[in-house]
Amino acid sequence: MTPALSALFQEAKAGIEGIFTHYLANPNIPSPLLKAMETSIKNGGKRLRPMLVLASARLFNVSSHQAARVGAPIEMIHSYSLIHDDLPAMDNADTRRGHPSCWREFGEATAILAGDSLLPLAFEVLTDEATHSSPSVRLTLIQRLAQDSGAAGMAGGQILDLSPHLIDSIDKATTMQNLKTGCLIAFSCESGAILGQASPEERSRLRHFGFLLGLAYQIQDDLLDIEGNTQTLGKPVGMDADKRSLVTLLGIDKSKEYLYSLQKEMFDLIRPYQLPIFDDIIQWVGTREV
Ligand code: IPE
Ligand code: IPE
Ligand code: MG
Ligand code: MG
Ligand code: MG
Repeated sequence: MTPALSALFQEAKAGIEGIFTHYLANPNIPSPLLKAMETSIKNGGKRLRPMLVLASARLFNVSSHQAARVGAPIEMIHSYSLIHDDLPAMDNADTRRGHPSCWREFGEATAILAGDSLLPLAFEVLTDEATHSSPSVRLTLIQRLAQDSGAAGMAGGQILDLSPHLIDSIDKATTMQNLKTGCLIAFSCESGAILGQASPEERSRLRHFGFLLGLAYQIQDDLLDIEGNTQTLGKPVGMDADKRSLVTLLGIDKSKEYLYSLQKEMFDLIRPYQLPIFDDIIQWVGTREV
């Protein structure tokens, strides 16, 4: 990571953790659930999505505080998706971010409910006036995030991921990866433009950028499942042997070539903004080992 990227990470992390602490300090949340939610949301993670919200917010002079109020909900939904992703009925993974996965530590029922609880909490954060003074901006954020995390978004992608018989072409693998990973990353990139009340063209350019980044990010995730190291990754490798993805369909070498071509496309798309932090993000996505 470049120093600028590390600084972005630190700022995003501090912003979202303040919001997690605030919303979890609710005496009405039963303690077993609170413990599972807190552990899963505060146990590390690269915080890519809140970093993207912060970077895109900078393009439109949106404050870091507002960016954190959107980054935190996205990270809540992302963390819920990982809690459920690790369940025995899904990927059956024992570790996550270097710790026992939520169901391993707290049991399956608690893990299911911790995920169920993080999902609506995300929308509760967005509804607050502190997120944006305009109710219409808040509604747009809520509508978009609902679409991007739901059945035609992340959750829909997860069912396709679990249905390898349906993934029999590059197009279908691309759709699956766009849904399960791309949608939340696209929303992260687009949200700065929504907060900044930018034009529809700006919004769709950033959204398109997010989908390219999401594809590249998931390709690297799938490559790391084959070539990575459990210790470094903090999650088990070799989990995708029975799955279909761009990496299984294209093979390792062609997947790496495709990842480079996505990086080139992203550099071209983002050049007009002249915000070097995006270049750092694009570089890092292709080289990350965690
Ligand atoms: C893992 O996401 C699942 C994918 C969509 C690739 P991350 O690699 O962003 O996980 P954390 O949040 O950093 O642990
Ligand atoms: C998960 O993809 C994508 C989600 C939407 C949660 P993976 O199943 O490949 O993620 P990891 O490798 O377990 O983090
Ligand atoms: Mg999975
Ligand atoms: Mg998994
Ligand atoms: Mg994976």
